[in-house]
Amino acid sequence: MAIQYYQNLSDDVKGIFKLDTPNTSYVIGVVDEEKFLGHIYYGQRLNDYHLAHVLRIQEGPFVPSKNNRDRVSFLDSFPMEYPAGGLGDYRESCIGIETKGGNMGLALNYVSHKIIPGKPELCGLPSSFGKEDACNSLEILCEDPHTGFRAALLYTVFEDVDMITRSVRLINDGKEELFVTKVFSSCLDMDNHDFEAISLHGSWARERHIQKVPVSHGKLSIESIRGESSHQDHPFMALASKGTDQEHGEVYAMHFVYSGNFKVSAQSDQFDQIRMVMGIHPEGFKWKLMPGEEFQAPEVVMTYSSEGLGRMTRSFHDFYRNHLIRGEYKDKKRPILINNWEATYFEFDTDKLIAIAKQASELGIEMLVMDDGWFGNRCDDNRALGDWTVNEEKLRGGLKYLVDEVNKLGMKFGIWFEPEMISPDSDLCRAHPDWAIAIPGKEGSLCRNQYVLDLTRREVLDHTYESVAKILRSANIEYVKWDMNRQLSDIGSAFLPPEQMGELYHRYVLAVYELQRRMMEEFPYLLLENCSGGGARFDPGMLYYSPQIWCSDDTDAIERLIIQEGTAMIYPLSTIGAHVSDCPNHTVGRTTPFKTRGHVALAGTFGYELDVTKIPEEDREMIPEQVAMYHKYNDLVREGDYYRLASYHENHFYDCYGVVSKDQKEALYTFVQVLNRPNHHSRRIYFKGLDPDKRYRIEGEEEVYSGDVLMKAGYLIRNMWGDYKSRLIHLMEA
Ligand code: GLA
Repeated sequence: MAIQYYQNLSDDVKGIFKLDTPNTSYVIGVVDEEKFLGHIYYGQRLNDYHLAHVLRIQEGPFVPSKNNRDRVSFLDSFPMEYPAGGLGDYRESCIGIETKGGNMGLALNYVSHKIIPGKPELCGLPSSFGKEDACNSLEILCEDPHTGFRAALLYTVFEDVDMITRSVRLINDGKEELFVTKVFSSCLDMDNHDFEAISLHGSWARERHIQKVPVSHGKLSIESIRGESSHQDHPFMALASKGTDQEHGEVYAMHFVYSGNFKVSAQSDQFDQIRMVMGIHPEGFKWKLMPGEEFQAPEVVMTYSSEGLGRMTRSFHDFYRNHLIRGEYKDKKRPILINNWEATYFEFDTDKLIAIAKQASELGIEMLVMDDGWFGNRCDDNRALGDWTVNEEKLRGGLKYLVDEVNKLGMKFGIWFEPEMISPDSDLCRAHPDWAIAIPGKEGSLCRNQYVLDLTRREVLDHTYESVAKILRSANIEYVKWDMNRQLSDIGSAFLPPEQMGELYHRYVLAVYELQRRMMEEFPYLLLENCSGGGARFDPGMLYYSPQIWCSDDTDAIERLIIQEGTAMIYPLSTIGAHVSDCPNHTVGRTTPFKTRGHVALAGTFGYELDVTKIPEEDREMIPEQVAMYHKYNDLVREGDYYRLASYHENHFYDCYGVVSKDQKEALYTFVQVLNRPNHHSRRIYFKGLDPDKRYRIEGEEEVYSGDVLMKAGYLIRNMWGDYKSRLIHLMEA
């Protein structure tokens, strides 16, 4: 059994929950007459549950039943499992309420628990899943005796991977309405192991750059209040012990299965304890809960690795591949697509698209994706969002004609939407000026000359769904790129009552989830790719609906090395939207070899974003070879274990990463020399993930090497001449 409850371990420790994954244990205690929930341990798997002695209740302040005189000291130092604020714990709390009388403090103490086979779904929210024999869940019910406010803490442990998920359901069991002003989904109170916080920072076109900073006294927060998970910060944090690298060191990581405002923070307190919390950002959040009503907070995915960052990465990859990504394409090779955005921007028509498709199909490309500009009066990005009717001046003969022509070439057809938006210059806005999110009576702030639709209104949501579905029903469309090109601002709704305005951000995210759920239910065969001005909504919440997400609008192969390194630190390569584009690159103006662009895009979904009728002949000639390479390696890339060998982001010269099949019989490493160094003849790389006892042949070479030697003594990459050059190294068991 992966979840056990042991009772009466000492005078003060009334019970202990022990949760085990294959290599980790997580231990919670029920403490004192008042039944505080204390966090006892998270780390390498333990073979015993006698841990009462490590709970700090005998030093300093005793438990309140013995020393109520210093209750505040107890609350402010005790390692809490789900801390509430206002009564004496001055560290970051996980929950805040405001009663009808305006009071705020509360305590959530143990009432009861149940252990459930499998994993319950979270109402209205994306969440990981597992069959009854693959995971077990623990629900601990807590209550604030003063208000009757309850919280059900849900934990799930998995049999096949070192992951624990957490979420919280709030229940107003009192007699009066109240407001929830803050709800986080997880907390870890631990001793500080000289931790460094690892997070992913960025901007448009440079998403998810890895950032490492020491955790010192005070609080380090990573957050978004943009209404989406954002380009700038990512709902992820790892605390890594000093000196952690790919193979060594302790790592505690949290990742949020949510696509809206979030906050994750690490706080080092006066006793050198660390509190790490994650959840919905409290700013702008206030949820009204009537007696009997419940609120479900989103899920946090947590992992612990005692073998460095590499193990953390592989646990996330396995977990997301097996327990979060769903649908038709979950375990399937994706069609190689060609997208016309960087090829044509808004300047296209049926003939142009068919010309691209024709040439692409001859080269082995499998799907044409028509990007922005096919609807209403969308001649540029200043207008027409919301007018989801086909522009027949551009698409002469209509959409079905175009799709049929593309299908006749043996290609699939995909389409771009930005369903959540409304342009001021659109028929939709002229008909429904109050459908945008805006502070009533005040002109809203524009971003890319557009507003966000108030999807919290049922009629707006239904209209939006029908606009998309009508197009999808009208032709054989097999792929959707769902874009979202601005952040939320001017939070206000012509629909929500004043006391519920604080619900808008979260209701908006729930509405997006509902739209995507409905779409995937009606069109289950669709390949959905989420996108947000590149990768501003690349998060596990969206991954639940779409097996791949557009990683960044920056398609430059060198910039992508850093973006894809950060993204692949958590996400499987199969989820990372990556395309070969034309040069000079449209974002940074750099020219890189076509071959390198292909190698870098191979560590993602792989596709093209260029006008294949216009690129240089020698580049076009390379496409069939790249297509063959994709077909040859994609199973390995999609299913293999990922290893990071060298980071250009850190060393400024070269990048190297690889994927190894689960049976360790095959591996593919990618080496990119970003900058050549004068008088520097070769680079030695040390392969990772091979079986030391197996012998491997490197494709193109006669010699056979032992896995042990390749990993310990390494391999020389020779004769790389020039900048931006790349090489694939393919190993097969000999
Ligand atoms: C966003 C996307 C791009 C493209 C444009 C279209 O920026 O990330 O790929 O679809 O919108 O307007």
